[in-house]
Amino acid sequence: MEKFGKAEIRNLTKVIESGCFCDKRGGFMDQFRTEFARDLQAKHAISGGAAMLLMHAIPGAIGAGAGDEIIVDPVVQFHAIACLHNNIVPVWADVRPDNFLMDPSSVERRITKHTKAIWVTHLWGFPAEVDKLRRIADKHGIYLLEDCAHAIFAEYKGKYLGNWGHIGTFSFNMGKQLPTGEGGMAITSDDKLAFELNRRIIFGESPEVLSSNYRMTEFQAAVGVEQLKKVPRYLKIYREGKKILDEAIADCGWLDERFVIKGGVVAPYAWSCLFHGERKGIKLGVFKAAAKQAGASLGFGFTQRPGYMYDMFRKPNAYGNKGCPYNCHLYKGKVDWKTGLCPVAEDVIPRLVVCNNMALDTKIYRQNAMKIKEAIKLAESGNVKPLDYSDLDKKILAIVKEYGPVEPMEAIALLDKRHGPHLDEHSMFARMETLRDFFPYKLSHAGPRKFAFHDLSRQ
Ligand SMILES: Cc1ncc(COP(=O)(O)O)c(C=O)c1O
Repeated sequence: MEKFGKAEIRNLTKVIESGCFCDKRGGFMDQFRTEFARDLQAKHAISGGAAMLLMHAIPGAIGAGAGDEIIVDPVVQFHAIACLHNNIVPVWADVRPDNFLMDPSSVERRITKHTKAIWVTHLWGFPAEVDKLRRIADKHGIYLLEDCAHAIFAEYKGKYLGNWGHIGTFSFNMGKQLPTGEGGMAITSDDKLAFELNRRIIFGESPEVLSSNYRMTEFQAAVGVEQLKKVPRYLKIYREGKKILDEAIADCGWLDERFVIKGGVVAPYAWSCLFHGERKGIKLGVFKAAAKQAGASLGFGFTQRPGYMYDMFRKPNAYGNKGCPYNCHLYKGKVDWKTGLCPVAEDVIPRLVVCNNMALDTKIYRQNAMKIKEAIKLAESGNVKPLDYSDLDKKILAIVKEYGPVEPMEAIALLDKRHGPHLDEHSMFARMETLRDFFPYKLSHAGPRKFAFHDLSRQ
């Protein structure tokens, strides 16, 4: 199935020929917002240059800022970063052990008089328990915000994600189900919130509220309107792919399929399962080596640690490196982020086994499924060769050694300069992840998505 083609080229040509590349009445951006809201069953859609930019503006739109707390989950950190950008304290709630999504009972325990919102991430397109989260939010008179970056057309109890909360955000970066290069959309059915968000992302000559230029371009929208039509077809294939991969581990007693809550419809973005090798005496390092030997395309441990264990959150360095938001004089709460804060997340994150679930050819899933089965057999046999470095691994190690710490996107650009091969962000991230378990040279996490180089032979 062709992803980008004549329709996108036709629209892009129209934009060029129009000579106007920005938001204009009756242009592609109008069309994209209208059709996105219609298809996602929301009243308003607000377009932005990236999901992260919309997320940056959302706290202002709900009236949150210095002195406030927002409850987030610790497996991914985009919402927590948006909090820091607004001088808001992210408060970490634990996740469920079977789907690694925000656990409503943990959220309930984290509510304080400073809480302004709950910000849930539907990680890798799986729905969190948004009905319970919404009830908690309503009970306490606070907002529920949904990060649906991975979850376009994912559903819970017959309603698309993004509509359970007061605002839902979607990402259109190149790694997402609806790619436009960069871009994002927020949906809401609340007129006042739509107005408040809109006026924060478009800078007028004399804005009434602190705002910025977080706009999308007509080029993105020109591609977006066509991709929006195609996403349901992509999802059909991604769902078949997920089934194929789930079946590959169905008989393995030490890799657990990710749980979908009752009433949930998944928009598979990444496929994942949980490693429990201890049940059969298999070490994670052995399974990693087996996966590599079998050629299975798997990543391990995702962010490796919950967000609150990263320095960026423990010692935030924004606003002149003065310790904001935690020691802001307006903040009357208490931050105590010791190990053990979210015991389920701490246990589950290192067990995550993950791979891309967005190939448009089921052959690719079948091939990977075969390799995963082969890796399982190998790990169980105990006949696994120690890990070694491929030529590509060596190139990536050399880049991180020279320029590190670097993020996958930086490594991709540097690798391109060295004549490739060109990798997409997921493939580079997965490669860098696998290089974390090597000897004598390895990578380590230097931030949520940053990697540093280590020469262990010298230690
Ligand atoms: C869960 C999640 N939220 C938010 C974002 C930010 O999206 P964008 O790249 O459009 O800013 C991403 C991007 O990868 C994401 O994965």
